[in-house]
This record gives sequence, C-alpha cells and structure tokens, in this order.
Amino acid sequence: KEKVLSGIRPTGFVHLGNYFGAMRNWVLMQDEYDCFFCVVDWHSLTTHPDTKELKANVYRLMGELLAVGLDPEKCVLYVQSDVPEIAELYLYLNMLSYKGELEKTATFKDKVRQHPENVNAGLLTYPVLQAADILIHRAVKVPVGKDQEQHIEMTRNFGDRFNKRYSEVFPMPQAFSYDKSLVKIMSLDGTGKMSKSANQMATLYLADDDDLIRNKIKKAKTDSGPTEPNAVKPDFIENLFGLMKLVSTPDTTTRFEADFNNCVIRYGDMKKQLAEDMVNFMAPIREKAKAFAADRELIKKVIGIGRDKARASADATLQLVRKAVGVDYI
Ligand code: TYM
Repeated sequence: KEKVLSGIRPTGFVHLGNYFGAMRNWVLMQDEYDCFFCVVDWHSLTTHPDTKELKANVYRLMGELLAVGLDPEKCVLYVQSDVPEIAELYLYLNMLSYKGELEKTATFKDKVRQHPENVNAGLLTYPVLQAADILIHRAVKVPVGKDQEQHIEMTRNFGDRFNKRYSEVFPMPQAFSYDKSLVKIMSLDGTGKMSKSANQMATLYLADDDDLIRNKIKKAKTDSGPTEPNAVKPDFIENLFGLMKLVSTPDTTTRFEADFNNCVIRYGDMKKQLAEDMVNFMAPIREKAKAFAADRELIKKVIGIGRDKARASADATLQLVRKAVGVDYI
C-alpha cells in the first residue's frame, strides 16, 4: 500500500477549512492507504511559544480526529514530539535548504507580517520540519488544503536534493485531494481563507453549538444578488454554494443555483437552508468529540499506540538516511 502522511497544528479549535480541506480526505484514505496522521506540536511552537494550553489543545484535537471518523486500528494517529526521529531528519534536511528559498515562502512572509516581534529560526525552517514529517515515512501522498501546496513542493525539492547529494532514499510526495483540486474554504466574511486567526464570527468551528452556527451563517457576506442571468458568482457567494455542496442534498444546491441563474435568488432563504443542513452535519461530530474529550484515558491510549507505530516506521527510514549520509559508524 502507498504511504500517506498529513499533519495538523494543535493551535486552536478545528474549523471547517481543516475539515473539508484535509480531515475529510484522511478519513476516506485510511481504508485505501497506509496512513499516518500527526498532531504537529513542534510546529505550533514556532508561533505559540506559550505552552500553557498546549496539552489541552492536543488532547482535544485528538478527540476531534477520532470524532470525524479516524480509526486508530486503520491509521497511525500520533503526536510529532513523540517521534524524535523527525528531529534528526530535520537536522540533515536543514543543511540542504537555503536561507533565500525559505525567506521566499508565502507562509513565512505572512507570519513575519503578522508577528514581526517573533521572527524566530524555527519559523524560517518551518517547511523543513514539515518535509521531515513527510519524508520520515517515505510518504507519497499528502492530503492537504490549497494553502499547503507550496510546502509540499518544497518537500520534493529537499527530498530530491538529499537523493542527489547522498543516495536515492525518498520517493517524491504529491499533495492530494479526492476533489478535483486542492480545497480552499473561504472565511464567511469573504476576506480570505478560513483560518484560526481570522475573524471568529466568520470561522465555523466543529465545536460551535447549533445557534452559533446559525448565527454565523446568517451573518455571512452576501450582496444584493445578480442583475443579469447566468452571472459569474463573486467569491463569497461561490463559497456559500461550495459549502452547500458539501452539506446539503444535490437537489437543494441545484435549486438555489437555478434561482441564482434566473436572478430570483433570496440569499436569506439560501442561508437559512444552509444553516440547517450545516447544523445537521456538524452536531453529531461535535457531540462525539465531546464524548472522546471526556475520556482522557482513551485519548492517552490512542497516543501511545500511535507513537509506537510511528517510531517503528520513522526508525526504518532513519537507518537508510544515516547510511546514505555516512554517519553509520558501528
Ligand atoms: P494547519 O494546521 O494550518 O491545517 C491543517 C489542514 O487544514 C487545511 N486547511 C484548509 N483547507 C482548506 N481551506 C482552508 N481554509 C483551510 N485551512 C486549513 C490545511 O491545508 C491543512 O491540510 N503546515 C501544516 C501542518 C503540517 C503538515 C505536515 C501538513 C505540518 N507537517 C506534513 C501536511 C504534512 C499546517 O499548518 O496545517
């Protein structure tokens, strides 16, 4: 079976972007591939040096991963810092990555803009650590949202450089989605991608209760509607249709599409329908996540099982890496 690796940062609550961009595909992939899914706590230290809430965030995130349908019997669910082999591979890859290319990374430039007071070396080499996450299992498919595309491309560059410098150890990983292209869920206020740091009222979290979901969708950005038949949809309207396709029946979506094309759409009605379908979709996940979060012993057991499996896979790769580099002395 082909190997799959993906990761998520424990920096806050899981939102719809994480779910539809990544986690939904993880659940589907666990039946088909040899899957590793990782809570990347080291990555979160690049922007969240205060670790007071880290442990609680990791436990809750693990609960949410179980709640969406990841099954520790079918995939390896683990925490990054439990696998020190990743840090060693990161070290070798750091010698093969250049300051110039790291400074040009889009996510790095964003973070520098957001937090000019904390431009640390870990932030600069964030894509190198991500490459180590992927390459340590010699994964070939990486299910992620659109925003991670550049990091996966950089992973190929680092892996290829390693192969050429030393010897062929790594296959070339590709970003993956079951959708036609990598997904980008927009924030409900239409200002950009949905993210943990964006406007809270424009971000739908898996933990939001029913009324909060309704309220957020009600406030989602719309305009006065199309003025000519079959108009091109503005981004924020396209995004509402996109969400509807994900949680409503095909008939419902088709009906509102037709209303849009005939210039008779009432966004109030559309948002009401979307809100109800979203509530029906999200409520069961939220309730399951609550139940898992309350069972700390179960979560710890899952983390322990994942750690052992992930380390076994990582160690096998690291032996090849050490041999290739020439640091296998005895
Ligand atoms: P993170 O924690 O920001 O997000 C986790 C996953 O959610 C996807 N995502 C989105 N997809 C569509 N629309 C959105 N608005 C949206 N917001 C987030 C992300 O693309 C991601 O797939 N650097 C990674 C974590 C990471 C990783 C890895 C991923 C570390 N090592 C190795 C893959 C492989 C990140 O910050 O994801």
